[in-house]
Amino acid sequence: MEKDKLFTNKKRKSDKKKQNEKTKPSKEQIEEKNQKKNKAGWDNIINFTNELKNEKFEYYYKTQLSEYFKNEEEFQSFINKLKEKLPSVFRISRAHPFKKNFEKLITDENYINSLLGEKSNIVKVSKKILTNLPEWKDIVYNINIPRMELKKNSDLSKFHKFIQKSVDSGLISRQEAVSMIPPMLLNTKRGEKIFDMCAAPGSKTAQFLESFYENYNFLNKKEYLNDTGFVLANDFNAKRAYMMVHQLKRLNTAGMVVICHAAQLFPNIFLNGDIMKRVQYDKILADVPCSSDAVMRKLPHKWKNWNSKESYSLHNLQLQILKRGIGLLKVGGEIVYSTCSLNPIENEAVVAQVMREFSQDDELEILDVNNIFKGSDIKRHNGLMKWKIMIEDKNDRNKLLVINDINDPLYNEFSDIISSSAFPPNEDESKKFKLFNCNRFFPHDSDTSGFFITVIKKLKPISSQDKSNKINEKIERKRAFEFVNEKFESEFKWIYDYYGIDNDFPGEQLITFSDLGKKINFISKGVCDLLKGDKRNQLDLQNAGVKLFKKNKQKGDSDDFCHYRICQDGLMYLIPYMHKRLFYVDKEIFVEILTKKELNYNDIKDENLKNSLKEAKAGCVIFVHVKKKPESIDKADNKYLVENFIDAICCFNANIKVTTMINKEHEHVFNLKYNIIQ
Ligand SMILES: C[S@@+](CC[C@H](N)C(=O)[O-])C[C@H]1O[C@@H](n2cnc3c(N)ncnc32)[C@H](O)[C@@H]1O
Repeated sequence: MEKDKLFTNKKRKSDKKKQNEKTKPSKEQIEEKNQKKNKAGWDNIINFTNELKNEKFEYYYKTQLSEYFKNEEEFQSFINKLKEKLPSVFRISRAHPFKKNFEKLITDENYINSLLGEKSNIVKVSKKILTNLPEWKDIVYNINIPRMELKKNSDLSKFHKFIQKSVDSGLISRQEAVSMIPPMLLNTKRGEKIFDMCAAPGSKTAQFLESFYENYNFLNKKEYLNDTGFVLANDFNAKRAYMMVHQLKRLNTAGMVVICHAAQLFPNIFLNGDIMKRVQYDKILADVPCSSDAVMRKLPHKWKNWNSKESYSLHNLQLQILKRGIGLLKVGGEIVYSTCSLNPIENEAVVAQVMREFSQDDELEILDVNNIFKGSDIKRHNGLMKWKIMIEDKNDRNKLLVINDINDPLYNEFSDIISSSAFPPNEDESKKFKLFNCNRFFPHDSDTSGFFITVIKKLKPISSQDKSNKINEKIERKRAFEFVNEKFESEFKWIYDYYGIDNDFPGEQLITFSDLGKKINFISKGVCDLLKGDKRNQLDLQNAGVKLFKKNKQKGDSDDFCHYRICQDGLMYLIPYMHKRLFYVDKEIFVEILTKKELNYNDIKDENLKNSLKEAKAGCVIFVHVKKKPESIDKADNKYLVENFIDAICCFNANIKVTTMINKEHEHVFNLKYNIIQ
């Protein structure tokens, strides 16, 4: 047993007390301070940078992470970096049809300067290469200004608005650089079954969806049949799961599913209730809840209340989640375990225990991904092979105790907090598990946050037990949604008739979450198979797919009434199957309606268009921007579309005029694409 240093903050506390006595704060000041306390971001701490200090934290990590620092100077540069605000980083969506145009804009100095005016010299946008994987190589950008400053500085407001609108419209996602690495290492592809176990707020889930829908050919009906995968995004916290729906909706993808479960107890889904058809996942991400001390650059309040104890309770939950993940993974599949914690208790210790329990016969392998970082802007380090067990003294939380092993008499005092699995493996075990293949990232190396990431491959069925699959399967719940073709037959038929939808449109992939069928979502084939197969409603479904139809708020029962309008979000999924209410237009008219947001019949020079609009019933219509207009409507078949289609936009035909029916997010994308200044 070894008692370690005493860490006192006493001197600093007494200085502060004296200071406080000198200047008694007013009521308003107290209130302001309380408000600041309630929030936890840089905003609130900016005037208290001296408080970004914690001797216990420094000592703890100087001990645990000593092998990563050549000398004291390097350790201090690590600590100092943790005190700096993070640069802003964003990623262009691989799935967005406008991605190339956006890349051109963001790398065009003149364009950026036009958004910055006189302050043009202070903002620098530069590419950041996180891995050498070609799919992810050219889409991540660094802005040298921290996020909050971008938001607050009125000189940068036009630039900030541009970034914010691009985020809202799904063109880009803002995310810390190293936090993008876990999904990159899973290298997911369309058709795979992906499970994101702890997904909110959904930044990594968005990456999976972006990889699914890259180069998706909406005009090719075969794509729909091949879209057999899904991205299942789960979070235990219902509020956060709800927020995640909002975050993922931006991407308008049919393969998205959001659910709300405790990941460690995630149920087995048996397709059609068949015990032989347990859903197993190709790729799983376990980006588990953690102490987050590697992201103090984002969460400066962590400096004040950091303690080592938190890691021990998180260790147990993290272990349960990873074990469940491995149970759900198919043989040949890969799981990434990641945290934004620096602590080996939440990192290597969790991975080591899983290897110990589940890989007695080499069923699992920690993959070596070192090569993926060669030539990138990111420095990677091997995982730790050993660490120490240190914890606060129960009587003095400024004192750290070191417990050597489970036979240490001191362990009795803490065995309710510290699991035996938190202790480091012996040297042979560490080597056998290949803990060196775990990946660590430090803030001072590449101007990022810190991160811990491990890729584990399941090589064979886990023979020692089936422990990883033992879950209470009894839960049954009411289905949160309905298949439109089953419950809303007349609405379903109306939609097909009104819009002239081909019979081969996968109508069974339309679902609604409301009894009245107010909104109708389109889901991918993979999501449909999963939801149809989940006969016992084991999945606590929050949302799925992309919005395709919305019920008209006005009431009307004439034959001509437009009961459901098409939503721009899902329009592309319908285009190749639709034959009525499409109006083919050239660029001039398309840009005109986008710019003015409405076109009076009297202003339409194209007589054919004007007449056909007059003839059409009032209601939703689609303006399709094409290279060459079809000779007649009958000639506008799929072949014609493939050769001529450029864009499509939802509009409303109101007998004397046509108005656009798109939200400001879609508007932003069209404005950028067609260079429209509003
Ligand atoms: C590190 S965050 C995930 C960040 C997310 N992967 C991203 O990149 O946007 C951990 C998440 O786990 C959730 N969580 C906590 N306990 C959980 C549990 N038992 N099962 C599933 N999710 C849990 C938290 O609500 C939190 O949203």
